[in-house]
Amino acid sequence: MNKRENTADIVVGIQWGDEGKGRIVDWYAGRYDMVARFGGGDNAGHSIEVGEEKLALRIVPSGVMQNCELFIGGGTVVSLDGLLGELDALAQRGIDVSRIRISDRAHVVFPYHAQADKASEAARGDRSIGTTGRGIGPAYVDKAARSGIQFADLLDEALVADKLTFRGSRDLIEPTLERAQRLRPHIVDGVDYLHGALESGRKVLIEGAQGSLLDVGYGTYPYVTSSHTIAGGACIGLGIGPSAIGRIVGVVKAYTTRVGGGPFPSELHDETGERLRSAGAEFGVVTGRPRRCGWFDAVAAKYAARLNGLTAAVITKLDVLSGFERLGIVTGYRLNGAPAGFGQAGVPGLETEIEWMDGWQEDLRGVRSIAGLPPKALAYVRRLETILGVPLDCVSVGPERSQLAV
Ligand code: GDP
Ligand code: IMO
Ligand code: MG
Repeated sequence: MNKRENTADIVVGIQWGDEGKGRIVDWYAGRYDMVARFGGGDNAGHSIEVGEEKLALRIVPSGVMQNCELFIGGGTVVSLDGLLGELDALAQRGIDVSRIRISDRAHVVFPYHAQADKASEAARGDRSIGTTGRGIGPAYVDKAARSGIQFADLLDEALVADKLTFRGSRDLIEPTLERAQRLRPHIVDGVDYLHGALESGRKVLIEGAQGSLLDVGYGTYPYVTSSHTIAGGACIGLGIGPSAIGRIVGVVKAYTTRVGGGPFPSELHDETGERLRSAGAEFGVVTGRPRRCGWFDAVAAKYAARLNGLTAAVITKLDVLSGFERLGIVTGYRLNGAPAGFGQAGVPGLETEIEWMDGWQEDLRGVRSIAGLPPKALAYVRRLETILGVPLDCVSVGPERSQLAV
């Protein structure tokens, strides 16, 4: 069988988000011509550090500090103010934002979506999901209900007026048209744009947002986001076939974190969890909320490796684990004494089996090769690699671009 076009590589987070995808995509992006986002919206927060420069991106792809084109795909849901605010902030830093394109198939997140998000959270009471309050869920609901407004619609003033009037939001017509005018140069036929790039041999890197365990279909439902965050979501979110996918790299933190509600079997409610939070500066980029922290979860990691069909992995934040006497890895779940799988993660009474490994005292931030890691850190990394079942591309040992062991 002949391959029809050039393939694109994917980077996805394989836990509950905030694995460090942004900084890893930034590093890979130096070898690509384009970085494309396929899903989510400004619920994402992707941090990048290059030298003294620090950026927190929400919707703009994490290749912005490299010399590549940036594409926001049709599977995303995007707030006009959020996008314009981000473009302005980047332009103020002297970054060329004219290379940022958004697909005509992306959906617009309106203020009424954020209001609905907050109202739905309040109505859930103690069952609230802990969303970012950005209107992501309601925007995807509108998309599926066929009452959403696409970026393509923004190019037609009468259509915007008609759809917003039908929606009972006439007051949004003027401000929407004004913002649409500013965004017009960035809106492209997304299918033509991306396939054109692939057909002309350009190297495309696909950037995941959120994490696999937040996937609306395969995550810890209902404590998930409203999009498909796994690698398969890239095909839908960009309008490409599975044959157009090359490598699939899973980014995984050396321990586990989660923001918001929902099951987290390896969570630590004690001072060890506190210590991970402060050593790893585990506070949300978008909401500032403290992240829940726990040991590396091998059951979850294997589940996510399967969901994504990983071909390689990257471990992040290994430096955070320096100074612990011993490190736990959750290697199994049990329910009433019998083995359980990740699908049971939220069942009350779930127990975990923990394997202990020796910790290390050395500061890892200056290590630049995996083989150069101190023996106990190397043993931990090799154990995680065996669990994931795919080779490691690199291990990050600090937030700055160069703090990588390869
Ligand atoms: P993303 O959503 O997956 O892009 O991750 P976030 O940017 O939300 O969260 C990752 C956080 O960890 C950010 O504050 C990064 O600057 C930081 N970070 C990334 N890699 C490392 C690392 O190897 N070591 C340390 N100490 N911090 C890191
Ligand atoms: P990045 O790309 C971590 C979580 C929220 C909440 C749930 C639903 O930075 O890894 P939503 O607003 O999407 O309806 O919230 O999903 N969540 C994230 N957690 N990182 C993210 O993105 C997240 N995006 C959504 O905290 O639990
Ligand atoms: Mg994040």
